[in-house]
Formats: sequence, C-alpha cells, structure tokens
Amino acid sequence: MASHIQHPNLPVPDYFSKFASIYVRQTGHATLNILTDIITNNVQTSAHPIGPDSVVHDTAAGPGIGAAALVASLPKGQLPKKMLVSDNNAMMVNAALESLAASPLPDVDCKELDSQDVNPVPSNYFTHSIDNFSIFTFVRPGDAIRETYRTLRPDGLAIVTCWSRFAPVFIVHAAQKKIRPDLPDSALMPTPRPEFSEEGVLQKVVEESGFAKANITMVDKVLVVTEEDNIAGLTMLMSGPMMAKAREGFTDEEQAKWGEAVSQSVKEEVAKNGGIRFEAYVLLGRAENQKNPSVPTIDDSCNSSTMNHVFEKTTGGVLIGIGDIEDQR
Ligand SMILES: C[S@@+](CC[C@H](N)C(=O)[O-])C[C@H]1O[C@@H](n2cnc3c(N)ncnc32)[C@H](O)[C@@H]1O
Repeated sequence: MASHIQHPNLPVPDYFSKFASIYVRQTGHATLNILTDIITNNVQTSAHPIGPDSVVHDTAAGPGIGAAALVASLPKGQLPKKMLVSDNNAMMVNAALESLAASPLPDVDCKELDSQDVNPVPSNYFTHSIDNFSIFTFVRPGDAIRETYRTLRPDGLAIVTCWSRFAPVFIVHAAQKKIRPDLPDSALMPTPRPEFSEEGVLQKVVEESGFAKANITMVDKVLVVTEEDNIAGLTMLMSGPMMAKAREGFTDEEQAKWGEAVSQSVKEEVAKNGGIRFEAYVLLGRAENQKNPSVPTIDDSCNSSTMNHVFEKTTGGVLIGIGDIEDQR
C-alpha cells in the first residue's frame, strides 16, 4: 500500500492531489520537455538505450510524465515492451491512467506505489528506471534510490533529476517581496529539501544508496520556457491556490495584489532570462553488471500483474542549453 505522506514543506496540504488534473499545463510542460530531451540526447545515445526489449519504471511519475516523454521521443518500434507508471498519489495515478488510455505503449501498467518501498516489484526487474523531479519531495530520498537500485537489472540504467533552479520559487519570492518588502528571506515561501539544488547533493544521495561513483554520469540542462501558453500555465500555477502558502498572513488588501505581483515578476523573469528559466541536474546511474548475481533477472515470463557544456539552441527555441558538464563527479 502506498504511503500518502507528503513532504511538510509542500505549499498546501494534499498538494499533489490538487495538482493532478492541471499538472502538465501548470508546469508549463517543463518536466516533460526536459525528460524528453534527456531520453533523446542522453539515454538513446548511451550504451543503454531504451528499445523494444526494455522494461521501464517511472516512479513518482505524476500524471504519467515518463511514459509521455517516451512516446514523444521514440518511434513506435522502439517503445519498451513493458512499462510501470507509479505514484503514491491516487489522483496522479488516475490522471496517468486517463492520459495513457490511448497510448501506443504496448503494455503499460499504472499503480499506486510508494517510491520508497515499491514492494511487490521484484528485485532485478527493470532495464531502466526514471525518477524525474521527485526526489526532493520524498520524506526518505535515500530509500527511494535504494528501491531504484534493487529493482534495476544488473547493468540497468537509472535517470534521476532534480532542479538546480526551479524558476517558480524565484518568481513567487519576488512577488512576495513586491507586496511585503519587509519580509525577511526566512519568511519567504519554503521549498521541500532545498539542499537538492546545491551541486553534489543528488550524487551524494545516489552514491550512498547503492550506485557506485564510477557508474554515475552527471549532465546539466537548461530549459527556457518561451511559449506564451506555457508561460500562461506557469503564471496560473503561481497566481492560484497551489501557492497559497506564499500569501499566508497577508491582509485582504495584500492578497488582492497577488495576481498583479506575480504577473509583474514573470515579466521581470522573462526580461532578464529571455523566458522562464529552469536549470536541472540530471544523473544517469548504472547498476553494477555483477549486481546481486544470485537473483535471476526477471524475463518475459514474469507476469505483469506481479508488478500489477556546450550550449546550443534546439527545437522550438525552448531548450537553450544542453551540455555534459562533467562526468563521474
Ligand atoms: C514534482 S512531481 C514530479 C512528477 C513527474 N515525475 C514529472 O516528471 O513531472 C512529484 C511527484 O512525486 C509524487 N510523490 C511524492 N512522494 C512520493 C512517494 N513517496 N512515492 C511515490 N510518489 C511520490 C507526487 O505525488 C508527485 O506526483
């Protein structure tokens, strides 16, 4: 049974339940676009590309972002033969089920599971495991990585991402300061596990939780959101109830200024960065090829019910910076 405990520093109680139906629009497709780019430019060009023999897990998947990224980046014949999409939030799992109903993925299962304990998924099962922009929301991130490692086959590949700059937080803080210039930094809206935005923290957690340093590659990504629709979606997220915590203690008069303060702060972000600028750390971690050799690799016979720097401009002017900055840090 999945745990429903959410990180205490998320902006509102039941944050992800409230977020499920509006998620893709109000993230401005940021998590989806970055993951699509990672699959195309880092996973498919690696020694461990995803293909028709792959068995892929997207853990803490939200409304099926990993599956959507695979469909967006791979031709039909290269899609994995099996995919598990899991999240501990029932509304997210339902949103994934809905969004994947007509998907070309040959065999996709959506399940409510806690990333920190994905029993009954057997060990050594997946060829690839995705954990996209979720690690900082876990109460026990190390346990989630240990589960990723346990469930990967020998030589399997994990893709783990987190933000080094989550733009909406900067914009919300700027809006708070516009209305309440007296607020000290300590009173600005908190974020869950801000330490993950520091360089080295993601690698450290992953290394301490099973992956060998020599099998880890780090890549930095920069996404500048420029499309009007995506900027509008993100603006809606920051103006609305999902960011209610930023307005805690505001008078009615101050509350009434919120929408305008967010719009103004978005304009300033766009003027400064050419769009809304997200920066991310991407970790590609390979399981040892001698990993737990006593446990046989699960093959096709497994019943799916048991798991029941170099910057360049790329497509659409969206992704402006993609570069391997340093391997095996
Ligand atoms: C920021 S969203 C990221 C969603 C998606 N991976 C993406 O790329 O957009 C974080 C997700 O983690 C899920 N989550 C948080 N804690 C979890 C846990 N312990 N187990 C499984 N999912 C969890 C939330 O429900 C939410 O869907």
